[in-house]
Amino acid sequence: MAIERSAAKRPNWSSGFAFIMATLGSAVGLGNIWRFPYIMGQNGGAVFLLMYIVLSVFICSIPLLCELLLGKQMRRGVIRSYEKINRKFSAFGWLCFITSIFIPCFYFVVGGWTVNYIFIYLLGTIPVDQINTATFETFAAQPIAPLIMGIIFLVLCAAFPFRGVNKGIEQANNIIMPMFIIMLLFLAITGLFLPNSIEGLKFMFAPDFTKFNFTTVLTALGQALFTMSVGMGCLVTYGSYLKKDSDIIQSSGLLILGNTIIAVLAGVMIFPAVFSFNLEPSAGAGLVFITLPKVFAALPFGQFFGLIFFVLLFFAALTSGISLLEVSIAAILEKFKISRKIATVIMSSIILVFMVPTTWSFGLLNGYKLLGKTFFEIMDFTASNVLLPLNTIILCVVVGWILKPKMELLTKNEKFYSVFMFLLKFIVPPVLVLLMLFGLDVL
Ligand code: TRP
Repeated sequence: MAIERSAAKRPNWSSGFAFIMATLGSAVGLGNIWRFPYIMGQNGGAVFLLMYIVLSVFICSIPLLCELLLGKQMRRGVIRSYEKINRKFSAFGWLCFITSIFIPCFYFVVGGWTVNYIFIYLLGTIPVDQINTATFETFAAQPIAPLIMGIIFLVLCAAFPFRGVNKGIEQANNIIMPMFIIMLLFLAITGLFLPNSIEGLKFMFAPDFTKFNFTTVLTALGQALFTMSVGMGCLVTYGSYLKKDSDIIQSSGLLILGNTIIAVLAGVMIFPAVFSFNLEPSAGAGLVFITLPKVFAALPFGQFFGLIFFVLLFFAALTSGISLLEVSIAAILEKFKISRKIATVIMSSIILVFMVPTTWSFGLLNGYKLLGKTFFEIMDFTASNVLLPLNTIILCVVVGWILKPKMELLTKNEKFYSVFMFLLKFIVPPVLVLLMLFGLDVL
């Protein structure tokens, strides 16, 4: 497609609404519903939540704007955007590219789990009241079935970037996001009526500061970046399809607010149920898949609600999965001047290869650990707690100190711009560097 190679004819979002839905669709996904509760469960609950909110609003909002701004100004994917600033910065783009392979490797495995749960609820292969911890563990430990489910998820995600920006990516988001939010509200309210739900709320909202440590802060930072899709050039890519006059401040505000509310709602949906059914908050990656089926079993029409929930979760994951793929696809499409279709096939194949060991981490390869972590956990940890913060630091330094983005692309308000630039140059990078060094136990 020659169209996409020249900046003048680059595809554009067809409306402001489409852009907001696409960024929200990218941000809201398994990160909020699957990763957030399980990571919060392992990191002490309320203290983690507090860190997460503070970091999202006060720190991550700056690189979020910065990514959109870089894309909007350069109108290129992440590798070419860096190269346009300076040829020597190519490596920074490639680091984002590598991150965009790391994340799908485990993300798509979890996407595959949602596909499996859709089948379970749709076909009724297991009676609703018998879907339990063992259901999840036996499934995840198999060598072939989870891999097939993961591949189904990968192919469905890849179908959208394959078709292009407007037809594919936009259409998917406009319908799914509003429906998803309604379902979440319903389940969160249901959760509050479960016996013992107050314990879950205490776990989430009453901080126990003895649990505070720097690893928790770094993990909260990783989670904040992860759920907002910051730190890998995803928003550079989506920002590159923006028209010059689109308002990115408003959409970023909405993104941070919407994303945080959805994560908290997801917590309220999960933790009262975890305590009500005597489950372990620190159960790990299977937490949502183990907890929610118990809620559905307790509801009238449980099979129906289970099905609707997993279908919506699947779609939320799909819109994020699409954005994950779009980063590497847009990057190599421009870099090597290949067609969008070929780029999609190449990237999907590479990801597929790495998905094999992550999938098998729950079964065949369960015994193989490095520093106590399975391959799945290593990919997740490295991507979220090392690569995303590292890419974000580089982004802030390069854009703040070297590119110095054009003011009119961000705002007409000079004061706002200088505060933004001040935070971008002097506050955010050192804070992130310190958090990383402390969190990784380097200091
Ligand atoms: N934010 C998404 C979620 O919460 C995942 C995601 C999409 C992502 N694009 C990203 C994470 C880019 C990091 C970087 O599910």
